[in-house]
Amino acid sequence: MDLGIKGRRAIVTGGGSGIGFETARQFLEEGVRVLISGRDGAKLNKARDELANKTGGEIHAVQADMTKEADIKRMVDTAKEKLGGVDILINNAGTMYSGRFAVFDDDEMKKQLETKLFGFMRAIRLVYPMMKAQKWGRIVNTIGGAGKEPDPYMFGSGMTNSALLNLTKSLSTEFGEDNVLVNAICPGWVATDLWRRNAEGLKQELGVKSEDEARRLAARKNSLNRMGKPEELANATVFLCSERASYITGVSLNLDGGRLKGLW
Ligand SMILES: NC(=O)c1ccc[n+]([C@@H]2O[C@H](COP(=O)([O-])OP(=O)(O)OC[C@H]3O[C@@H](n4cnc5c(N)ncnc54)[C@H](OP(=O)(O)O)[C@@H]3O)[C@@H](O)[C@H]2O)c1
Repeated sequence: MDLGIKGRRAIVTGGGSGIGFETARQFLEEGVRVLISGRDGAKLNKARDELANKTGGEIHAVQADMTKEADIKRMVDTAKEKLGGVDILINNAGTMYSGRFAVFDDDEMKKQLETKLFGFMRAIRLVYPMMKAQKWGRIVNTIGGAGKEPDPYMFGSGMTNSALLNLTKSLSTEFGEDNVLVNAICPGWVATDLWRRNAEGLKQELGVKSEDEARRLAARKNSLNRMGKPEELANATVFLCSERASYITGVSLNLDGGRLKGLW
C-alpha cells in the first residue's frame, strides 16, 4: 500500500531508540524527511547514522530535552531550517513513572509531567501554526495504557497519560477544520530500553526473581501472551500519519496485544 507521504517532513522526538527509532526508520523507508531528537547527543548521532545507512533517507538529529522550552523551540527551528517546515509531529520522547503511592515523589512526578504533558503540548504549540497554514498535519502522541486503566504501580504514568488522552481528543476536535489530525497510540509492554530500565522495579512489584520471569508474567496479562516489538508500534504510528488515515482523528489505539479489556 502506498501511504502517500513521500516528501513529507516529520519530527520524531525520542527517535534515538526504541519505538521512536523504529518510527523514524519506517518514515524514512516511505520517503519522509525526518528529524529525530533526544537528550543524549552521542546516542542520537549514532542512531542518525544507522538510520541513514539503513534507509538512505534524509535524516537530521537535534539534541533537545523535552522538559526545556528553549530546547523544544530550537528543535522546531532546526526542522524549519533543514526541512523547510513540519507536516508530522510524533510526540514520543518520554519514560515511565512507576511505583505505588507509598513511594510517590512529587519531584519525579513533576519531571514526568514536564517531559510528557508539557513537552508534548509545547511541541504541538510550535508546529500547529505551520500545519494550519498548509491545511495538512498529523500529530501522534505516544501515551500508554495506564491512562485508560489505572494500575496502582503505574499511578504516576497513569495520571500523565489520562491528561494526554484528554489533550489528544480535545485538540483533534479543535484542529479538525484545518485538516490537522491528532491521534494517540497506547502501548502496553514493549521490549525497549524503557522496559529494561524498569525491570528491577517490576521484579519487586510482581514478586519474582528474574527479569525473564517478570517479562513472562507481565506478558501473560495480554491476549497474545507476549511483549510488543518496537516495529509493531511504529507500524500503527506511521499508518496514522499517512494519507490512508485521512478520516481518522481523535482516536487512541491500544497497541498492547489485547491487554486492556475495557471497551475503549
Ligand atoms: N516500552 C513500553 O513498554 C512503553 C509502554 C507505555 C508507553 N511507552 C512510551 O513510549 C515512548 C517511547 O519509549 P520506548 O519504550 O521506545 O523507550 P526508550 O527506548 O527509552 O525511548 C524513549 C526515548 O525518549 C528519549 N527521552 C526521554 N526523556 C526525554 C526528554 N526529557 N527529552 C528528550 N528526549 C527524551 C530517550 O532518549 P534520551 O535518553 O537520549 O533523551 C529515548 O530515546 C515513551 O513516551 C514511553 O513513555 C512505552
